[in-house]
Amino acid sequence: MGEHPIRQDEYFIWQRQDPHAKAHRTLYGAASRKMGAVLGIDAATAPACLACHSEVVRPALRGPQSHPSDGISCEACHGGAERWLSEHTRPGITLEEKVSLGMTPTWQRETRAALCLSCHQGDAQHRITHTMMAAGHPRLVFELDTFTSIQTLHHRRDADYAERKAAYEPARDWIAGQAKAAELHLQALTDGRLMNGLMPEWMQFDCAACHHRMDAGRWKPERMPGAEPGAIPFADAPQHLIALWLGALAPAEAASWREGQRKLHAAQGEGVEAVRSAARQQLATLRTRLSPLLAGTTPSTAQLRVLLKALAHDTSHQQAPLTGEQRAMALTVIADALRLQGAALPASASRAIESYYKAVRSVDQFEPKAHAKALDAVARALP
Ligand code: HEC
Ligand code: HEC
Ligand code: HEC
Ligand code: HEC
Repeated sequence: MGEHPIRQDEYFIWQRQDPHAKAHRTLYGAASRKMGAVLGIDAATAPACLACHSEVVRPALRGPQSHPSDGISCEACHGGAERWLSEHTRPGITLEEKVSLGMTPTWQRETRAALCLSCHQGDAQHRITHTMMAAGHPRLVFELDTFTSIQTLHHRRDADYAERKAAYEPARDWIAGQAKAAELHLQALTDGRLMNGLMPEWMQFDCAACHHRMDAGRWKPERMPGAEPGAIPFADAPQHLIALWLGALAPAEAASWREGQRKLHAAQGEGVEAVRSAARQQLATLRTRLSPLLAGTTPSTAQLRVLLKALAHDTSHQQAPLTGEQRAMALTVIADALRLQGAALPASASRAIESYYKAVRSVDQFEPKAHAKALDAVARALP
């Protein structure tokens, strides 16, 4: 008999290597207790923390073996197992049947992006606030392809998996993740419940905009076209990367997307209602026109090369460390996608990308000049 296509060691991988297995235990640790003391809550039992650190599946939907103290259990990602547990290994069961029994289609990239980002960026059900950051919560960073690899895969990316579910396509995973991240951000800007006093929740702004020295000289018009000097840049790395993708792969759509961003920037000077309305329009464009295009396009080798160049030659966000961080991951993912298509980059270009990673590694030590130099080196190293 041949090897079983499913590994069947998922539980052991999760328990020993998956960061999610210890997510609930984290809330009993010193860092969490300190945060709890500052916030006046008991971190280990506070719903505000449990929302992401222990996804509790509603008891009626839970499989017999799951407990809230499991941290982020199998069911948090795969859906409450009550109806599919005994069925999902039946020979011949289709993916559609599994979904109809309550299984989450994690093999679909849009679903997977929405799942991961619900906690790794936060949404209305998984609320993360600047107050938590100021109390000591680590900053949230996410990129779908990169973090999927760090999580420790518990499925095989082989031909059998591609046949049963989906082929591994890092460039499509990357842009689907950016589309979902932009969607969550724009959605948060439209949601009147997600406020920090008079302003939208500060998580929706670029952290570095407020957290840098006054002589840093970071305010540049090209960082936020349409806004007045000193306006607070939004946490808009995903929107910016989407604009670069459109410029490279669907130029006809790029101009109107950028114009929507310009309107959103300008709205900041007009008040929170204007921001909400501009964000609502941009959200509609994203959902109805762009998301299907972004996730549905399989880029050719030539298109991936154009995209890589666009990422490397873009100088408009030289002052934004969070865009730099996302760009470093993007360059790596696209380089990997090229490798899978038999068009690996020369070693010098890979080294330049590695050096760029170092230039954006620390948000606190970010230096716009060093960043510009490292990015320029990537641009020059590309064939
Ligand atoms: C229910 C909320 C939730 C969901 C859904 C979720 N995560 Fe996480 N993730 C967390 C939390 C909380 C941690 C931190 C765990 C700890 O250290 O206590 C974490 C940690 C991680 C880490 C380790 C990060 C590091 O800096 O080492 C990776 C990688 C990761 N998640 C990837 C993913 C991916 C990929 C997905 C989607 C398939 C996903 N996560 C879905 C909440 C979630
Ligand atoms: C929106 C989801 C979300 C909420 C709400 C949330 N966290 Fe987290 N937390 C995460 C994620 C995701 C990570 C992993 C970040 C990474 O490494 O990329 C994390 C990481 C941490 C870490 C660092 C873990 C490590 O291994 O280094 C601590 C400590 C922590 N959270 C405590 C808390 C406490 C206490 C609360 C409540 C006040 C809380 N979190 C609320 C999502 C959340
Ligand atoms: C943080 C989210 C997350 C958690 C927690 C998680 N998984 Fe997964 N799992 C995934 C993703 C993403 C995939 C890949 C997409 C897919 O095949 O559905 C996957 C794939 C699988 C597969 C399919 C393998 C294949 O070849 O078709 C199995 C089986 C599985 N997981 C079992 C488990 C079990 C058992 C647990 C708990 C011990 C668990 N998972 C916990 C996200 C998660
Ligand atoms: C609108 C401006 C603004 C934005 C955007 C902002 N912060 Fe803050 N942050 C502040 C202010 C003001 C304080 C309080 C500083 C003080 O009391 O001196 C603060 C405090 C903090 C602290 C406590 C340490 C300190 O310096 O006081 C941390 C950590 C922090 N912020 C992280 C973040 C992160 C992470 C982000 C992005 C997700 C972010 N901030 C975005 C204005 C901002």
